[in-house]
Amino acid sequence: MKAVVCTKYGPPEVLQLKEVKKPSPKQDEVCIKVYATAVTASDIFIRGSQLPIQFLLPMRLFIGLTKPRKSIIGLVLAGEIESVGKDIKRFKAGDQVYGITGFGLGAYAEYNCMKEVDSTYGCLALKPAKISYEEATAAAYGGLLALQIIEKGKIQCGQKVLIYGASGTSGTIAIQLAKYFGAAVTGVCSTNNLGFVKSLGADKVIDYTKEDSLNSIEHYDLILDTVGKMKSSKLKEECKKALSSEGKYISIDDGKLELQSERLVKLKELIDSGYIKPAVDRIYPLEQIVEAHQYVEQGHKRGGVAITVEHSN
Ligand SMILES: NC(=O)c1ccc[n+]([C@@H]2O[C@H](COP(=O)([O-])OP(=O)(O)OC[C@H]3O[C@@H](n4cnc5c(N)ncnc54)[C@H](OP(=O)(O)O)[C@@H]3O)[C@@H](O)[C@H]2O)c1
Repeated sequence: MKAVVCTKYGPPEVLQLKEVKKPSPKQDEVCIKVYATAVTASDIFIRGSQLPIQFLLPMRLFIGLTKPRKSIIGLVLAGEIESVGKDIKRFKAGDQVYGITGFGLGAYAEYNCMKEVDSTYGCLALKPAKISYEEATAAAYGGLLALQIIEKGKIQCGQKVLIYGASGTSGTIAIQLAKYFGAAVTGVCSTNNLGFVKSLGADKVIDYTKEDSLNSIEHYDLILDTVGKMKSSKLKEECKKALSSEGKYISIDDGKLELQSERLVKLKELIDSGYIKPAVDRIYPLEQIVEAHQYVEQGHKRGGVAITVEHSN
C-alpha cells in the first residue's frame, strides 16, 4: 500500500511517499481503508516543527526521542472498515468511520489498524453521514478539541462567550458549539477572516490585528482560547483581564486532548442534525503531503486541511 513515512524529525521535506506492507488487524482491531486524513497543528509538531522544550520533551517521550518510533505518521482519519478481528463488537466491514489515531499514528496511509476501545492509541466512531470524508477529518480533530474545551467551560445558555482564535480547525467548531448551547458569542480572528467567522454564527467579531479592537472588548463569562499557548496578541492579553466576576479563561493547551469516542458520537449527531458544519480550507492528494505541511506550517489555515487518499483498487 501507499504510505507517507517520516524516518527523521525535520522540515516538511522529510516526508516521503513509499510502498509499504499493508497491515492486517489483530483480533481486537479493525482495519480501516483510509479515504481522507489531515494535516493538523499536531501533525506539524509531530513531524518536527520547532516547539518549546516544555511541549517537545513530553511528546517525544511518547513518539520517539531521536526519530519517530512509528515511521508512518498521521493523526486523523476517515474511511471505511475493510475487515475486523474476531473480538470486534462495535463495527463491521463496510461501516464508514472517523477518528483520531493518538500515539498509534499511521493515518498517512491507504490502510490503518486501530482498536475499537478508546485509549491514548486512538478513538473511533461512525462518521457523520452528511459530510465528506475530508470534512470528517476536520470534525474529528477540531470537533474533539472544541467539545472538550466547551464542556470544560460548562457553557450555559445566555452566557457571554469569547472564542479567541475563531478561524482555526477547533475555533470554527467551537463557535458553532457555543451557539448551539445558547451562548452570545464573540469570535476573535484576523481581518481576512471576520466575514468567515460571522458566517459561522458569531454574534460579534473582533480583529486581533487592529489596535483599536481593544475598545471592543466587553466582560465575558467564558473565554475559550482555541489557538493555544504559543499564539498570542496584545488583544489576547487584554481579553484575559475582561472576565466577569465568576468568569473563566480556558486554554486549549490546559490539558491533554481526550480521545473519547463518546464525543465523536455526539459530534456526529450535531453534524447530522445540521447544527455544525466543519470547515475545510484546502484539500491535497496524499502525493502532495509536503506542500500540505508547508501550507499548514504557516499557521493561517481557515478550518482544517484535508488529504485525500486515492486507492488503486
Ligand atoms: N491540549 C492538547 O492536547 C492539544 C492537542 C492538539 C492541539 N492543541 C492545541 O490546539 C491548537 C489549535 O489547533 P487548531 O488545529 O484548531 O489550530 P489551527 O487550525 O492550526 O489554527 C490556525 C488558525 O489560528 C489563527 N491564528 C494564528 N495566529 C493567531 C493569533 N496570534 N491569534 C489568534 N489567532 C491566530 C489563524 O488565523 P489568522 O490567519 O487569522 O491569524 C488560523 O485560522 C494548537 O495550536 C495546539 O496548541 C492542543
